[in-house]
Amino acid sequence: MKTLAVISRKGGAGKTTLSINLALTAHLAGWKTLLADIDPQRSATDALRARAEPGPTLAEANAGKLFQIKSHAANDGCQVMLIDTPAAPDADVALAVNSADLCVLVCRPTFLDIAAVARSAEMVRRLGKAGLIVLNQAPPKRGSQEPAGVQKAVEALRFCGLPVAPVGLRSRAIYQQAIARGRSVAEWDAANPAGQEIERLWSHLAAQLGLDGGRKARAV
Ligand SMILES: Nc1ncnc2c1ncn2[C@@H]1O[C@H](COP(=O)(O)OP(=O)(O)O)[C@@H](O)[C@H]1O
Ligand SMILES: [Mg+2]
Repeated sequence: MKTLAVISRKGGAGKTTLSINLALTAHLAGWKTLLADIDPQRSATDALRARAEPGPTLAEANAGKLFQIKSHAANDGCQVMLIDTPAAPDADVALAVNSADLCVLVCRPTFLDIAAVARSAEMVRRLGKAGLIVLNQAPPKRGSQEPAGVQKAVEALRFCGLPVAPVGLRSRAIYQQAIARGRSVAEWDAANPAGQEIERLWSHLAAQLGLDGGRKARAV
């Protein structure tokens, strides 16, 4: 089983949006998937409960239960585990990071998010874990031109000591529409570019985890 922790010290960065979309994408690609919601706000739980179709298994818990959840999930044949985390306290986030094979640091292209992600990156490195930064809520390109703010953010993020994922998520209303029904953006509207963003991001993460291109379920 491979475990991904989705982290950010900033509320509203997109942890839950990313956790839900990645968990659904893994599930729809055929992996037996569990989403552990350790944020007392329970937003991931609310989203998955709004889902009418079968989906990933949900574990509502506090950070202290992660070890137990993880070993139970592995015994149950689970192949992918996502952890949606709170912004704080650090001790809870550290437990999630310690449970993970790969940490996904969510960051909007803003000064305050970048400052916060630098601290999260430090924690991930201190705990000896692999991690990467995913830019979220980036404004759309103008033609083929990347907005200056996004370019600057990517440059600044180079100093965090963790790689920036080659695909980020743009700011799009569909992320808000789809999550209200517990659906991935690709399920909501297959023609929307958001679906491709998430699919490409999942493929990249799956490759990092050695999950065979993200498709074709098999025991890992
Ligand atoms: N790429 C995006 N485009 C548009 N809205 C987004 C995007 N990512 C997140 N949001 C919205 O931003 C808000 C905060 O996102 P959320 O995933 O709850 O953040 P966090 O879990 O980090 O607090 C939510 O209303 C969500 O729908
Ligand atoms: Mg959240």
